[in-house]
Amino acid sequence: MDIKKIQDAEMENKKILLRVDFNVAVENGRVKEKFKIEAAKETVNYLLSKNCKIALLSHFGRPEGKVDPDFSLEQLVPDVAESLGVKINFISDCLGEKVADGLEKASDKEVLLLENVRFYSGDESNNEEFAEKLAAGFDVFINDAFSVCHRDQASVTGITKFLPSFAGFQLQKEIEEMEKLMRDYARPAVAIIGGAKIETKLSVIKFFDEKYDHVLVGGKIANEALEKNMTFSEKVILPTDFAEDHFDVGPETINKFSDIIKSAKTIVWNGPTGKFEEEKFAVSTNAVLEAVIQSGAYTVVGGGETLEVLEKNDAMDKISFVSTGGGAMLSYLGGEKMPGIEALRSS
Ligand code: 3PG
Repeated sequence: MDIKKIQDAEMENKKILLRVDFNVAVENGRVKEKFKIEAAKETVNYLLSKNCKIALLSHFGRPEGKVDPDFSLEQLVPDVAESLGVKINFISDCLGEKVADGLEKASDKEVLLLENVRFYSGDESNNEEFAEKLAAGFDVFINDAFSVCHRDQASVTGITKFLPSFAGFQLQKEIEEMEKLMRDYARPAVAIIGGAKIETKLSVIKFFDEKYDHVLVGGKIANEALEKNMTFSEKVILPTDFAEDHFDVGPETINKFSDIIKSAKTIVWNGPTGKFEEEKFAVSTNAVLEAVIQSGAYTVVGGGETLEVLEKNDAMDKISFVSTGGGAMLSYLGGEKMPGIEALRSS
């Protein structure tokens, strides 16, 4: 992998701006799924062992360039502290004096959590001046947020013009896993693609249609594909029956999917196959999960909703690799360029 890596650079005593993705679902003031936060732990621990001062930089939701308390990262402080096992000092801005002051005063083993970078419109528009301001006061930029690498934004790409920039451990792991899925996989290989918005999933279905033995399509996208009379090769399997109102696939399809999944040696899964939030429409998604576990295949799962399925069923540790990327995973596997990764190339 020809990207610049955290372990290849001199990090001792540096001031580090660490891009993470804490864009997580919150319910009743607590984080519903801490996996994306925990993903930053290895990099944080490594940097602390090098006596670095760390500021965590993230987006949270889509506040559209305006300060909006509903999207403040302050509400995540207890969960971040618990997940990372460090003391968190929340800074109510992501640039300027407050950040400089926080860095100055940061004690050993204390990590700064900066306010939502998307409170500034300059992030999403990748404004150069904004990126320069973000970089001020830091020595090094580390990107450990695979799930946002499909975005060409100031806190992902723009900033790399102003600071020496490297990939954190989680980002490296994610790239290795995606490459394995694309080039070095045992067969039969099966892709399960569900969720919504067929347009965003077509390139990934096409990729797996060319490479893998089967592509099982469920969820809303299966309905969309059928409504639009889309045609695929015989390797792409669309549902042949449905539950009430098409909110889940039917028993015949579940059986077909399960048989194929159980014989697989490699599985990639992104997106539930039904409206799993409602128990009565979670039948196929639960059956897919059960077949995936029974298969003993090398399995990679990604996407926010699919992660919720794993969490709900206590199945996180039954999966070979769980990706933090939803849209990013689809972009990578669909063969799109990932600006956040391109910006870390060594030449
Ligand atoms: C995600 O949740 O997929 C990432 O955090 C990216 O968020 P975005 O789609 O709002 O850029």
